[in-house]
Amino acid sequence: MGITGGIAAYKAPMLVRLLVKAGAEVTCAVTEHALQFVTELTLETVSGHRVYKDLFDRQNPHSTEHISLKDWGDAMVVAPATANIIGKMASGIADDALSTLLLSFRKPLFLAPAMNTQMLESPALKRNIEMLRADGVNIIESTSGELACGTSGDGRMEEPENIAKALEETLTANSRCNGKRVLITAGPTYEKIDAVRFIGNFSTGKMGFALAEELALRGFEVVLVAGPTHLTAHHPNIERIDVTSAREMYDAATTHFPSCDAAILSAAVADFRPDHQADYKIKKQSDSDDMTLHLVQNPDILATLGKMKHDGQVLAGFALETDNELENAKKKLTKKNLDFIVLNSLHDKGAGFGHDTNKVTIIDRNGSITVGELKSKQAVAIDIADKLAALISS
Ligand code: CTP
Repeated sequence: MGITGGIAAYKAPMLVRLLVKAGAEVTCAVTEHALQFVTELTLETVSGHRVYKDLFDRQNPHSTEHISLKDWGDAMVVAPATANIIGKMASGIADDALSTLLLSFRKPLFLAPAMNTQMLESPALKRNIEMLRADGVNIIESTSGELACGTSGDGRMEEPENIAKALEETLTANSRCNGKRVLITAGPTYEKIDAVRFIGNFSTGKMGFALAEELALRGFEVVLVAGPTHLTAHHPNIERIDVTSAREMYDAATTHFPSCDAAILSAAVADFRPDHQADYKIKKQSDSDDMTLHLVQNPDILATLGKMKHDGQVLAGFALETDNELENAKKKLTKKNLDFIVLNSLHDKGAGFGHDTNKVTIIDRNGSITVGELKSKQAVAIDIADKLAALISS
């Protein structure tokens, strides 16, 4: 648990107690300013652990606590989180013990902001919060009420009981994902015409890679079948299989699906391929102004997995539509035997191929429809992962 220098820090020991009572082991990392509001002795007493506050601890000169603590915790919550720590996190600044730990922490991270209303409403703070949300940080919104400065308004830290509840809900959902296997397809496929040419599409794989990272972060073992893309997968729980054509993607997906608990197919698979693929470069014909390619249909990977699916497996796909979007997506959901489908409309600006943002509607087989806002692909990945986590646990 991180604690920074705001008046709400006086509630931090209560949160530590609630977490300990719920069965968690807690270590506190504090800023210098936090210790103006709460004592080290109080935190050590309620947590039963030494407080981490100094990057250059003279008693432990070779300490790399900011590195070992990042592996120690299953999750981290900063409560209260001041505008200052939020700004540092959004910019990657690491100039003290807590900010250095936060920069290296790669597991579920929660922030409970607390500050004066004017600070909360400042454009810089709003921008920083959005950046952190896009990075996958869970923001526990502040509430409205009396503030330390004597005024009343937004900016009060959420009550410790509710912070503990938010942590518990997410960690419980994540623990159900722990060790489960999920298959993801991502990126385009290239269908070879000859030795130097192919039929492809504009997919970059960003959405599928964001999903793979988010699911790995939640404890899933991810099998990522990727079409040609320059993207890199970072999380050690991601096993990446590179393929080029739809048929290679089909082979990899059908091989791995039986050992998986879920699959989300986000790849933009070419529906057709040239029936003949030359292993030399096709020459221009001097006596002809046109050229005809004969295409044959590729296997539908998602529909095949829909037929293979057994009880307990969750299957999801994407639908990229230009007309009658909802109706077409629902048809695909039924036809391919999916549990949910993520609809992308080409009419939405900033959504779809190549963009860093996306706007999706999630439709499940029970008819529930969730229309999302335009957000970063990382934030969309969080929504999709939430949907999967809910279905996998039920
Ligand atoms: N898909 C697949 N294999 C294919 C084609 C599509 O696995 N050969 C998957 C995509 O990964 C996506 C979903 O099917 O999850 C829907 O893809 P989309 O291109 O929207 O639809 P199609 O099924 O190809 O139908 P249409 O082209 O008629 O819209």
